[in-house]
Amino acid sequence: MKKIGLFYGSDTGTTEYVTELLLKKIKKKAHVTTYEIGEVGLLEFDDFDFLILGLSTWFDGDLQSDWEGFHDTFRRINFSGKKVAIYGVGDQIGYGEFFVDGIGILGRIVVENGGKIIGAWPTKGYDFESSVAEYLPGWFMGLAIDEDNQGEMTEPRISEWVKQIMEEFSPTNKKVAIF
Ligand SMILES: Cc1cc2nc3c(=O)[nH]c(=O)nc-3n(C[C@H](O)[C@H](O)[C@H](O)COP(=O)(O)O)c2cc1C
Repeated sequence: MKKIGLFYGSDTGTTEYVTELLLKKIKKKAHVTTYEIGEVGLLEFDDFDFLILGLSTWFDGDLQSDWEGFHDTFRRINFSGKKVAIYGVGDQIGYGEFFVDGIGILGRIVVENGGKIIGAWPTKGYDFESSVAEYLPGWFMGLAIDEDNQGEMTEPRISEWVKQIMEEFSPTNKKVAIF
C-alpha cells in the first residue's frame, strides 16, 4: 500500500468536509496520514513521496488562511522525486475571476521546486471567468470543488479523481504528468 501524506486547511469547514469524503474513498486503497497545515512544518513533508494538498481560496485569489501562513515555508520545500495531487474548494459564481486560484498558487511552486503534479482535472463542467489553477487551457492543476454552487457534483467528482490519482501515483504508470 502506498504511503501518502495529506495536508489541508479550511476556514469555515468546507474543505474539511471535502477532505473527509476524500479520505473515505482513498483509505480503501492507500495508507494516508492527514495533517492540518496550520499544525505542521517542513519536516512532515520529508516523510512522503506522495502528497495530497487541499485548500480553499479566499479574498479574491488568496490562499486559505493557514496555507497563507505556511506560504513562505512551502516555497522552501524541495519537491524533486515527489508526486503531488491538489484539490481546491471555491465559488465559481461569486468569485469567478479567481476560481480556485489556490490550486494554481501551490501547483506552480511544486513545479518550480522540481515536483510532478498529478490529478489534472478538466475545466469542462464549470462556469468561471479566470483561474490561476488553469495552468494549461482546459485543465486545472487539480480537482476543483464548488460546494456553494455544485454540491451535488462533489461526491462523484471526488470518486473519479481518487481513481485517477491512485493510478497516476503508481510508479509503473507510463502516463507522463502533463504539468
Ligand atoms: C469573503 C470570501 C472570499 C472568497 N474568495 C474566493 C475566491 O477568491 N475564489 C474562490 O474560488 N472562492 C472564494 N470564496 C469561496 C470559498 O472558497 C468557499 O466558500 C469555500 O467553500 C470555503 O472553504 P473553507 O470553509 O474550507 O475555507 C470566497 C468566499 C468568501 C466568503
